Parts: sequence; C-alpha cells; structure tokens
Amino acid sequence: MTNLDLYAKAEHLLGIEEATEALYDLYRSELDDYDVKTLLDVGCGRGGFMQRMISDGVKCKGVDLSALMVQECQSQGLDAECIDAKDVTGKYDAIVSIFDVLNFMNKEELVDFLESMAEKLNDDGLFIADINTLYGFKDVAEGTMSNDSEEEFLNVDAVFENNELHTKFTLFEKNEAGTFTKYQDTIVQYFHKINIFQKLEGLKLVEKQTFSLYDTEDKTLLIFKKR
Ligand SMILES: C[S@@+](CC[C@H](N)C(=O)[O-])C[C@H]1O[C@@H](n2cnc3c(N)ncnc32)[C@H](O)[C@@H]1O
Repeated sequence: MTNLDLYAKAEHLLGIEEATEALYDLYRSELDDYDVKTLLDVGCGRGGFMQRMISDGVKCKGVDLSALMVQECQSQGLDAECIDAKDVTGKYDAIVSIFDVLNFMNKEELVDFLESMAEKLNDDGLFIADINTLYGFKDVAEGTMSNDSEEEFLNVDAVFENNELHTKFTLFEKNEAGTFTKYQDTIVQYFHKINIFQKLEGLKLVEKQTFSLYDTEDKTLLIFKKR
C-alpha cells in the first residue's frame, strides 16, 4: 500500500469533514464568477467537489495518485483516473487542487506541475489551489492526534522541520479473525513561499487570499489565469 492509499484509508478518522465542506464552498463561490463548463480536479480524493460541480452542470474529470481514492470516485460513477496529472489529455476551463494538494509536491515537482497545468487550460482558463501558510504548518498541522472506533485505531504524529512537515500515520484495522493489521507510513508536505507562484511562465497569479480554515491565517487561496 502506498502512503497516499494509507491516507485514503485513514481520512475519515481525521475529523476534516467540516473543513472540507468550507473549502468546497469557497472554491465554488470563486468559480461562480466565471463561465466554467469543464473542470479538472487534481488530487480529487473521494470526488466530493466533482459531485458538487456536476450538480451545477459542469463536466468534471478527476485525477488522484491514490488508487483507493480513484476507486471510490469510480464507484460513484465519476470520471476519475489514477494517473499523473501531466498525462491528462484535453483542455479545461478550470483546474482545481483542493486541500493541501500542492503541499504534497516539492518545489521542483510543483513548478513542473503548474507549468503543465497551464498547457491544459483553455484561453482565459483558471487554476485555483490552496496551500498551507507557515503558521498553518507550525501551529496547526504539527502535533499528535489519535482517534479510534471498535474496528480501527489511528495515530497521527506530525513534525515540522526545515520547511517540511513529516506526518507519520499508524493505523490498526480489525480483520475478520478479530486481530488487528497494522499499517504505517509517512507523508511529507512542503511549505512553499509565494514568490514561486509569481515567476511561472504559463500561469499568472491574479489573486491570493489568506484565510482561516482551522485557526488564524492557516491557509492561502491562490487564483491563477492562463497567460
Ligand atoms: C488532503 S487530500 C484532499 C482530497 C480532495 N481534494 C478533497 O478536498 O477532498 C489530498 C489528495 O491529494 C492526492 N495527491 C497528493 N499528491 C498528488 C499529486 N501529485 N497528484 C494527484 N493527487 C495527489 C492525495 O492522494 C489525496 O487524495
């Protein structure tokens, strides 16, 4: 199992449903100002945002590097693939990467990814994403939490050092024999300074809004237009 599949297995124990809904509302209201008919959701997770946009009449495609996430999308009838976003064919009116997806990429991967997304946008196309602020990493994401039910136990231990958040996930899952299977892996997330986003060839940063998802100014929403 990959570390992203472990995240997919553990996500429902993280208590992020309310924050996810708040983010979806924010993205939806930003997209409302534009005439978006086609949307690509990179890091689409379980497809919650695509479901909302489809109900608004938008044609959606999602990609995610977790096969488990993509299976869940496909089981709801969504158009989703477990492929690198750079390999998506076709062009879109808007591309989104919601809830930390850009923080999963290091600086080199990020620049490469963003330039490639520019090529997948129609003229006047929009790319919208959110990133964690330094405060969001240091004071919100860092630390330890655990959660359990009859069937599962999750421990999450996150350390922020040298602009990287290393989050160790340990999940115990009850199996049919009544014993527990242990899964453990680490996800690294990278803090990104805003100046990276201001030097792109294919995308122009037209708006940045720092806002509070969990706590004071823990996230920044970035809105780009295709150059
Ligand atoms: C915090 S989850 C957010 C999921 C979804 N956007 C949502 O809001 O519910 C981050 C997602 O990004 C995916 N991911 C991480 N790096 C990725 C990449 N380079 N390309 C595509 N998906 C990626 C993970 O597998 C995970 O599903």
